[in-house]
Order: sequence, then C-alpha cells, then structure tokens
Amino acid sequence: MEIIHRPPFTIHHFATLGSTNDYLKAQADASEFTCVVADEQTAGRGRHTRTWVSPPGEGLYLSVLLRPEATANLSLLSLLAALAVAETLAQYNVAGLDIKWPNDVLIAERKVCGILVEGASSGANEVRIIVGIGVNLNQQNFPPELAETATSLALHLGHTVAVDVFRDRLLMQLAHWYAQWRHGVGQSILVRWQQLSSYAHGQQVVVTLDGEQVEGVTMGLSKDGSLLVQTEDGELHTMLAGEVSRLRKGL
Ligand code: BTN
Repeated sequence: MEIIHRPPFTIHHFATLGSTNDYLKAQADASEFTCVVADEQTAGRGRHTRTWVSPPGEGLYLSVLLRPEATANLSLLSLLAALAVAETLAQYNVAGLDIKWPNDVLIAERKVCGILVEGASSGANEVRIIVGIGVNLNQQNFPPELAETATSLALHLGHTVAVDVFRDRLLMQLAHWYAQWRHGVGQSILVRWQQLSSYAHGQQVVVTLDGEQVEGVTMGLSKDGSLLVQTEDGELHTMLAGEVSRLRKGL
C-alpha cells in the first residue's frame, strides 16, 4: 500500500482490494478526507446489490470518507459527487456528457460512472459517509450484460487516459464542491447539476421506486435534491429516491 498526499485528501493506494467502500468502512478511526483507491476490485459493489466490474487499470475505483455535521442535508452529497465527476470528464472535452438523476454520469446516453454513497456506523452526533465512485476510463469492451449500456472515456476520446491524473483532477473537483456544501452554498450544487443534466427539466420519464412507477415530466430539483416530476393529472411528485428511465415519444 502506498500513501499519496493530495490535500485535503490522503490517498491510500492499493493494487487490489475487494471493494474500496468496504475497506474504508472497516477503518473506524479514519479521518475525514481519507481516500482509498485500488487498481482493481475483486468484489466491487454497485447500487441495488449489483456488481461493479473493476478490471485492473481500466477504471478508477475510489472511496472517500466524509464526516459532515449530523444535521447536514446529506441528500445533496450524491449529486455533488456526480457533479464533480461530470466536471472532471468535461476537462477531457468529451461530447455528450449528461447526469441521470441522482448520480449516474453518462456519455452519449451510456453509463461511464456510478456512485455509491453509504453511511458507516458511528457514535451519536457523528456521521461517517463513504462516497464510492467508479469511473470507466480505459475499457475497450465490456461483459455482454453491460455491452449495450456502459461506456468508457477512452472509447469516446480514441485514446487511453492516465488513471492517476483523472483521480487527482476528480479529487480537486470533489474538494471544491464539498467546500461549497460545507459552507452552506448547497444552492450552487443544485444550479450546476441542473445545467449539466438533460434530465432536470422537461423530460418525459418514469421513476421506479419499490415496484411503483411515477410517469411524468421532470420539473427540476427541490432544495434537498429530490427530482420533481409532474404527472399528467398535474400533480407534482417529489422523488427522494428511485430509478429514472427516459421515455421517448411514440414508445
Ligand atoms: C452504481 O451502481 O452505479 C454504483 C457503482 C459504484 C462503484 C464504486 S467503485 C469504488 C467503490 N467501491 C465499490 O465497491 N463500489 C464503489
């Protein structure tokens, strides 16, 4: 294991780990801004108990520990992480960047990054949040089950990128947006997120949550980062969670 200092972050870099989120979760004494990165994950996890395919050197697999105040509005954190990734990708001048609510980053409608925000057990008045970020950087192909829906940065640039350079750029973006959030400028996160996401306004979507579906048109984000969806009967639904799919006219 190698320690790399990138203030405010301290990076613990491993050749291989099961899951960077699981490793960091087990470090009860880790301080805020501890960052765990692995070249490869053998048990990378996605949301909804899915696997996050993490072959060596092809993606960035990173987890960051945040220790915000217990009273803070935590729901903005996952939007913040997606925003930081999207802005990092934008530095590579890639076309077709998008964010699907709440935190899937897409290139040309395919997923290039997934984010898994998890709480870790802690004492009273103490919150430990692990923000796990997986970015597909250099993959040239994906397993059959992902072939239609996943993409990598390299596939769009036509050349590979240095994982550690991307990592450091991303950490700078994370530090910037986290500072905004800590200083109570959560509004700027919402504004920027909505600029970068085609899903924010006027999209015909269906949101699935616990087997129930809400179909309607997106009307932006509420103050806490929920997605507002207006159904045909004019009712405004505030979605704090759920899986969003875009509906195209005629489908
Ligand atoms: C998703 O399902 O979209 C979330 C994927 C999150 C993957 C990252 S990779 C680094 C960190 N460690 C994990 O086991 N998962 C997250």
